[in-house]
Amino acid sequence: MLICPLCSAPLAQAGNGVACPAGHRFDRARQGYLNLLPVQHKNSRAPGDNQAMVDARRSFLEEGHYAPVAERLAELARQRHPARWLDIGCGEGYYSAQLAQALPDAQGFALDISREAVKRACRRAPQTTWLVASMARVPLASGCCDFIASVFSPLDWQEACRLLRPGGGLMRVGPTREHLMELRQQLYDEVREYVDDKHLARVPAEMTLAHSEVLTYRLRLIAPDSRANLLAMTPHGWRASAERRAAVIDWPGPFTVTVSMRYDYFVTEPGATP
Ligand SMILES: C[S@@+](CC[C@H](N)C(=O)[O-])C[C@H]1O[C@@H](n2cnc3c(N)ncnc32)[C@H](O)[C@@H]1O
Ligand SMILES: [Zn+2]
Repeated sequence: MLICPLCSAPLAQAGNGVACPAGHRFDRARQGYLNLLPVQHKNSRAPGDNQAMVDARRSFLEEGHYAPVAERLAELARQRHPARWLDIGCGEGYYSAQLAQALPDAQGFALDISREAVKRACRRAPQTTWLVASMARVPLASGCCDFIASVFSPLDWQEACRLLRPGGGLMRVGPTREHLMELRQQLYDEVREYVDDKHLARVPAEMTLAHSEVLTYRLRLIAPDSRANLLAMTPHGWRASAERRAAVIDWPGPFTVTVSMRYDYFVTEPGATP
């Protein structure tokens, strides 16, 4: 299923890594992931989220604040019985690991362009194939995925469409306009209106929206560290002023925020050729 990121030929096991018939070789890292991001496809030396963002997200997620979001995603994936799934923009693997657990008989892949993220992610689920790769050129064969997850992540829709088998589906999870509203109100004089269905305009013609739902709950952030991590893992960490951020972190008593997540499931037409 893996294909060479340089020439698109199939990759096969070769020593402690993989190689294509043209002789392009990719080593497996000590931690277990494969780096399939050739230097010429990198736009910067260390693309994707940096170590500080990855660490903040990991600490926050480990405290379970978004556990209901992951549980619902896992449940929605389980209901679809995929034989092969892919998490695109997996970050440090919190959601991918729960997909792997929910789908023990399926073959799982998870990728991110950030090596720092994948280095940490791959410890979570050794049975999953972890890749450092770009979502713009996913090193997987066309039509090989039954289920793709994209959580809080940018998405190359055309590429996702290419990867899905006819009848397969893409679950996109992203914030609604209510998400973290109380936090945004503390951080900014004017809360920027967030349009949470912008992505619908980018859906390729071969895909149809088959299911949509919203998960909303209130979260009490008691520890200042949790609030600091939440800020550091979002753009608010650099967008909001230092004073406003400090006010949130040092908030007297628990800080209550709304978590509001939208799940959109897009299917490719059963007759479509990928
Ligand atoms: C906000 S994070 C979400 C991570 C994870 N899905 C989560 O919710 O915890 C977005 C992720 O997309 C990754 N990313 C950004 N551009 C990418 C690209 N071109 N290819 C693959 N991953 C990319 C970043 O490195 C980052 O880990
Ligand atoms: Zn090759």
